[in-house]
Amino acid sequence: MFFHIKGGPGQVIVMVGLPARGKTYIAKKLTRYLNWIGVSTRVFNAGDYRRQAHVEMAKKPKHSFFDPNNAEASAIREACMEAALTDAMDFLRDGGGKVAIFDATNTTRERRKIVYDKIVNQNGLKCMFLESICNSDNIVESNVREVKVHSPDYKGVDAEEAISDFLERIKHYEDIYEPISEDSENHFAFIKIFNAGEKYVIHKHEGYLQSKIVYWIMNVHITPRTIYLTRHGESMYNVTNRIGGDSDLTSRGQHYSLALSYFFNQHVIPGLRVWTSWLKRTIQTAAHIQAPQERWRALNEIDAGDMENLTYDEIEEKFPEEFKARDQCKLTYRYPSGESYQDLVARLEPVMMELERQGNVLLVGHQAVLRCILGYFLDKPLEELPYIKVPLHTLIKLTPQAYGCEAEFIRFPIEANDTYRPKGSF
Ligand code: SIN
Repeated sequence: MFFHIKGGPGQVIVMVGLPARGKTYIAKKLTRYLNWIGVSTRVFNAGDYRRQAHVEMAKKPKHSFFDPNNAEASAIREACMEAALTDAMDFLRDGGGKVAIFDATNTTRERRKIVYDKIVNQNGLKCMFLESICNSDNIVESNVREVKVHSPDYKGVDAEEAISDFLERIKHYEDIYEPISEDSENHFAFIKIFNAGEKYVIHKHEGYLQSKIVYWIMNVHITPRTIYLTRHGESMYNVTNRIGGDSDLTSRGQHYSLALSYFFNQHVIPGLRVWTSWLKRTIQTAAHIQAPQERWRALNEIDAGDMENLTYDEIEEKFPEEFKARDQCKLTYRYPSGESYQDLVARLEPVMMELERQGNVLLVGHQAVLRCILGYFLDKPLEELPYIKVPLHTLIKLTPQAYGCEAEFIRFPIEANDTYRPKGSF
């Protein structure tokens, strides 16, 4: 099942928390997940609106801009927050959106009351607050450093100066911060995340989508780790341009399997786990790697139904209409008695949830499966998934970062048939 949430009001997820508590990180990552499962989602970040304001002091503000006693600046910040929230609600009403994430500090009860009233009472939309509370010095310090590196507010500013200004900015917010109260704000649906996942409070969440969000939030973590992805080594079917099936590796594929095991057995990667599908070609590829292995049926290649075991030429000859239909929309095209890419994303969702919970993992998979997984990590629009290039005999190293995911493609010098089919060729 793919998640077409039809009807029902859209939802605004309202972020709450001091600066440097990972709000933007959570907002972006949640957006990526929801879009990947087919729930149209967008972030509306108050800081971005502030930087676009036609006022010089708002573009690269000094900490005094965030002083609650600075009336002129407060008025500008208020206007920017209003604009972001209004656009968020427009996105849900007229822009085809299902979830809007309002990424601002929303640190006072008064502010949250106004926001809730606008979303729920004036616009009939649903609202859930998502508060990040962090008193671990390590986490806050590392977030402060991240902000220095990534925030446009401090572009070109000396590192020490930026950090000390940002710490002053945080103090202004601390002076007025009121965490969400389980008594006086008891009517809100909210999630509180403590120290990036040490503890959670879940309050009055309702409905399918909010439950999914809660479940996802409780599974993701921020501990640094690496995810390695690779397709199986070249298979017998790869060289004859056949799809599906359960063929063995060619001798070049076996060569890749040995080279891969050499790579992983030489560099000891702490706690590495190896995941494969149930198909022979992935199991053979991982066979010599000395690490605990798990087989996932959910990682099997896209089910090509009636076209399993055929070559592309045979498909074109036997099923000319299907051949054309797949080219029209490869994402939603479902093989007769088989699956579509969209079906595959839904099948992979539990795998991704588990992958989010894990440390270092090597996942040996298949072309369509890895396209979906890469689409998730690299935040690609769904329509682009079926065309992502995932060459054979290439190890992809993914390093999740605070503001996205770094991907390195390591090509092993072992020849393999090129199985990529550009748009217009099935
Ligand atoms: C900002 O302007 O950077 C954030 C505004 C806020 O949410 O307090």
